[in-house]
Amino acid sequence: MFWLLVLVAVIVGAVYRRRRPELCQIHSDLPIGEKCYPVIGHAYLMKNSDTDGAVWFKALGRQAIENGGITSFWMANKLYILVAEPETSEVILKSCMEKGYVTQFIRTVIGNGSIFAAVDIWRPRRKILAPVFSMKNLNEFVKVFNRQSMIMADMLEPMAGGADFSVWRYFNTYTFDSVCETTLGIDLHSQKDPNHPFLIAFDFVSQELAKRMVSPWMYPEFIYRLLPRYNKFVFHRKIIRHFVDEVIKIKQKQQSTFQKGDNNDLSDTAPKTFLDMMIESSGRLEQKYSDLELREELMVIVMAGTDTSAVGASFAAAMLARHPHVQQKLHHELDLVFANSDRALTVEDLPKLKYLEAVIKETLRLYPPVPVTAREVMNDVKLPSGTTLVEGVSVVLNIWATHRNPTFWGADAEQFRPERFLEGPLKHPSQFQPFSLPMRNCLGYNYAMMSMKTMLANMLRRYRILPPSHMDGHRLQEPLKVSFDVMMRDMDNYEIRIEDRTENQISEGRLLSNQKETSKKKSYC
Ligand code: HEM
Ligand SMILES: *[C@@H]1O[C@H](CO)[C@@H](O)[C@H](O)[C@H]1NC(C)=O
Repeated sequence: MFWLLVLVAVIVGAVYRRRRPELCQIHSDLPIGEKCYPVIGHAYLMKNSDTDGAVWFKALGRQAIENGGITSFWMANKLYILVAEPETSEVILKSCMEKGYVTQFIRTVIGNGSIFAAVDIWRPRRKILAPVFSMKNLNEFVKVFNRQSMIMADMLEPMAGGADFSVWRYFNTYTFDSVCETTLGIDLHSQKDPNHPFLIAFDFVSQELAKRMVSPWMYPEFIYRLLPRYNKFVFHRKIIRHFVDEVIKIKQKQQSTFQKGDNNDLSDTAPKTFLDMMIESSGRLEQKYSDLELREELMVIVMAGTDTSAVGASFAAAMLARHPHVQQKLHHELDLVFANSDRALTVEDLPKLKYLEAVIKETLRLYPPVPVTAREVMNDVKLPSGTTLVEGVSVVLNIWATHRNPTFWGADAEQFRPERFLEGPLKHPSQFQPFSLPMRNCLGYNYAMMSMKTMLANMLRRYRILPPSHMDGHRLQEPLKVSFDVMMRDMDNYEIRIEDRTENQISEGRLLSNQKETSKKKSYC
């Protein structure tokens, strides 16, 4: 059904466009080993599979790798370049900053929010947004990450020693609560009560956007507006906008009362949120965000920051369940740093958790939450291969395939081996790109790493992750089955089991010699 409708969409498109000869030249420079049919081009390749939702996506990536990291294909009469190689990615991401067509649906929610805005709108906004992600500011957030993830670890307690379960809900509500608290200054307690209207509306809208992006028949705005689902979409979007606007209003009121009074005490004690900092930093640049811009950028942070980190951490849990030796090393590192105490995790602990960082990076390599990004070519771009791209070409950067390109990652590219990130510099500085590459790369890179490290550390201090009991050994050695809308997801929904580490620890000889001071055992040891 899906690809039939793709066909209809591209045939309609084909009627309006003709193949330009320069584009045909580019395509013959960057061939693909698949047949090109008249009118539809290679659109037939986009069919999905029920058992593995990303087959075509992976197949195109492999084609690119076989062609030296780059290939091209026709969707009707639109030429797409597909890149699976770091050098070409770098060149394109530096010189092309306009994003692709499908991202326009996200604009129906976040408006001109920087992440998918046109370049002219994006550039000044990024100038204001970038400084709020400074390490000095982010370090303050670790307290929030720690507190929220301690709650998460408590929420997991009833699952310990029990049956298979999906870790998604726990991780997703953790990231949602911590992103909302650090962005807006509001603790939504969605971990304890997942029925908050903002969370429900947010989930609905995210899923609806993903659905629309993979449903070409819903692309034309006038058709979409006729569908019953459109009203639901508008309803939930209103809840989100209203909620964020209310938070902004409250904050602005608070700030103006601070300015009237002569002491700044209150603003010093409470940690500054992204909202606070955005109001301040945009004031400094004398190009204040308007209220609308402020709402749009806040929505960008909440949207860009929540599911992505939850997907990353959930894949990490699924990988740890399948790689007990890796997990054992990780437990060892955690025991060294925390010496079995249940103290809070602090900013100073994070750089010590080097192996945990490598585990997260290796997970993001094999299962990048955002497996693809796209750009439009507006001016000539000369690629390292010698081919020159011209205006009208679209580029798909296949992060998934770049991360598995054996030219850069070696013959064991498909293996989960965190040590590769501890063995000195990578072959190419841009071969690891889960957060994309400059100029329009992720601003939340450090935030995401700190948040994921904190949550996984606090979870693994208490629990051991086990594979789901219904999967046999053979199945557990296979790659995860993934689907992919805007983000990559595990089709088995990140199922794991957990057990308390307290009970088995002594028998497994994991107690460390320096444990004397902490012999008064608390809940973690
Ligand atoms: C594992 C977690 C994350 C991943 C994999 C991820 C990945 C990405 C990617 C691929 C992009 C688009 C870059 C492009 O098109 O070239 C992006 C943009 C962005 N991300 Fe993230 N992200 C993550 C977490 C976060 C977090 C936690 C935040 C904020 C708290 C955040 C904020 C942003 C922003 C603001 C942009 C837009 C930047 C711009 O257009 O100037 N991200 N992210
Ligand atoms: C984005 O900004 C442009 C130019 O300022 C404006 O015309 C357009 O309506 C805005 N788009 C959205 C979705 O708000």
